[in-house]
Amino acid sequence: MSDRHILTAVAWPYANGPRHIGHVSGFGVPSDVFSRYQRMAGNKVLMVSGTDEHGTPITVAADAEGVSPQQIADRNNRIIVGDLTGLGLSYDLFTRTTTANHAAVSQEIFLGLLKNGYVFPQTTLGAISPSTGRTLPDRYIEGTCPICGYDGARGDQCDNCGNQLDPVDLVNPVSKINGETPKFVESEHWFLDLPAFAKALGDWLGTRRSWRPNVLNFSVNLLEDLKPRSYTRDIDWGIRIPLPDWRERDDKRIYVWFDAVVGYLSASIEWARRSGDPEAWRQWWQSPDADAYYFMGKDNIVFHAEIWPAQLLGYNGAGDKGGTPGSYGALNLPTEVVSSEFLTMEGKKFSSSRRVVIYVRDFLERYDADALRYFIAVAGPENQDTDFTWAEFRRRNNDELVAGWGNLVNRSISMAAKNVGAVPQPGDLADADRDLLATTSGAFGTVGDLLGRNRQKAAINEAMRVVGEANKYLSDQAPWKLKEDPARRDSVLFTALQAIKDCNGLLSPFLPHAAQQVHELLGGEGTWSVAPRIEEVTDLDDGRPYPVITGDYETGQAVWASVPITPGTPLAAPKPVFTKLDESIVEEELARFTEGTP
Ligand code: MF3
Ligand code: ZN
Repeated sequence: MSDRHILTAVAWPYANGPRHIGHVSGFGVPSDVFSRYQRMAGNKVLMVSGTDEHGTPITVAADAEGVSPQQIADRNNRIIVGDLTGLGLSYDLFTRTTTANHAAVSQEIFLGLLKNGYVFPQTTLGAISPSTGRTLPDRYIEGTCPICGYDGARGDQCDNCGNQLDPVDLVNPVSKINGETPKFVESEHWFLDLPAFAKALGDWLGTRRSWRPNVLNFSVNLLEDLKPRSYTRDIDWGIRIPLPDWRERDDKRIYVWFDAVVGYLSASIEWARRSGDPEAWRQWWQSPDADAYYFMGKDNIVFHAEIWPAQLLGYNGAGDKGGTPGSYGALNLPTEVVSSEFLTMEGKKFSSSRRVVIYVRDFLERYDADALRYFIAVAGPENQDTDFTWAEFRRRNNDELVAGWGNLVNRSISMAAKNVGAVPQPGDLADADRDLLATTSGAFGTVGDLLGRNRQKAAINEAMRVVGEANKYLSDQAPWKLKEDPARRDSVLFTALQAIKDCNGLLSPFLPHAAQQVHELLGGEGTWSVAPRIEEVTDLDDGRPYPVITGDYETGQAVWASVPITPGTPLAAPKPVFTKLDESIVEEELARFTEGTP
């Protein structure tokens, strides 16, 4: 057992609407599987994230409804907190970017970069309305994307190709307010000097070993074309620029991405402040042997493998211009950027506007969280884009969870309950018994190695292969035919139950809710798999209320090792752990899904 400090840094979902299962397949489930495994292995995990509440996506949603950006953020923050808790995602702290703490930490990072000379002012062309002479925020400018040719690109970003833009890049820009052509006039902004980090970023990427090859290649390629990037934006919603003459301005804010990535640090600091030891975050951010794993979908790689590391390097004084660390001291760079590919749905790209979407909330109303977690782990987009179909979801649920793992649990425990009423006392074990137990207990090594390297698909396949071996053992030994030989029957049932205990450990990171049930079916008491909870808190600095996700994860009994079962532990007739899904759900769901399609 080790006790490394491991930061699990999970991408911050935008609070411009509820999140769908494509989102949680990228950042959500993989980060939780990883964290649960690491905690079981005895490591000290700090898992942080929150809602990403600044930037144009929120202001566009607010404008559309005629409410304030904060109201949009408050509403969606609460929905997202509920959804992620429902999925069992075990954040130590899931907070938000509109806290006073987050603003202060974001401003400190900016000032540290400024002090070391890595941000500099530059005049660029900003849009104004020719008729009123007022600044036109980025989101009010629309035009044709210079990269993909899409017609409805916004001043800050093209939603079609996902590229970040500047308003001045748009072909045929128009004001969304009155259709006039904006005038571009000089506007002052701060820029992050990315070229000054080319060498430091290259050195860092050069030492990254276990990354998924496509993520590492993509990140290395980014270094070929580093240009200074605007740290500030013409927008009225976001974190203020902490400088005289800038702080008061209503039309200038820190660019949303440059504040969002700082969230990993600010949330760690908030967690520490709430824990009663305000310095505790340092163990994850400053200790040289701490590790930090960042989880996200592939559209976020630029910000986690280039921008955030550059911000950290600059703050540390470790770019071409040198410098000294800011007041927090030097901060660790990511150990690994763990990025997944995209999930599609029934062959199409998820799209809320075209209703090609299943929101997490709707999913959890109708199905178990573990059924979705299982699908994402076994068939999700770990290394390539993959497709979610209801037929495949049902098949995996019924054939693998219900008929595979659930059936093993159910038939073994019901036989033991009926014949013995307790975990049976085994006699001498036969070769077949010892072989099975060697396989199940040995799997902690193989599956654990895969999980430690985020090869989650291979890990769950190996765990389910072991479940298959246990099912085969039970069929071969046929304890139901051993009425005349109760001693042998008891040895077989004991072996099967011990195998179940082991398989339950192997599957706990993936299926935490089912794992708790199986723990109880085996006569266990208390908490095996930890569960996150929602806590209503107040902002540490300005007192505003909001919900966070947190939990007492050290109370879980789950460990990454074979735990011996105790003969004589009372057993009751089991209730099924998984729900078999009727064929009709496929049609029903497809009908729901096509209802709104034009
Ligand atoms: N909000 C972004 C998205 O949903 C992710 C931000 S990750 C962060 O794509 F770290 F930058 F916050
Ligand atoms: Zn585009």
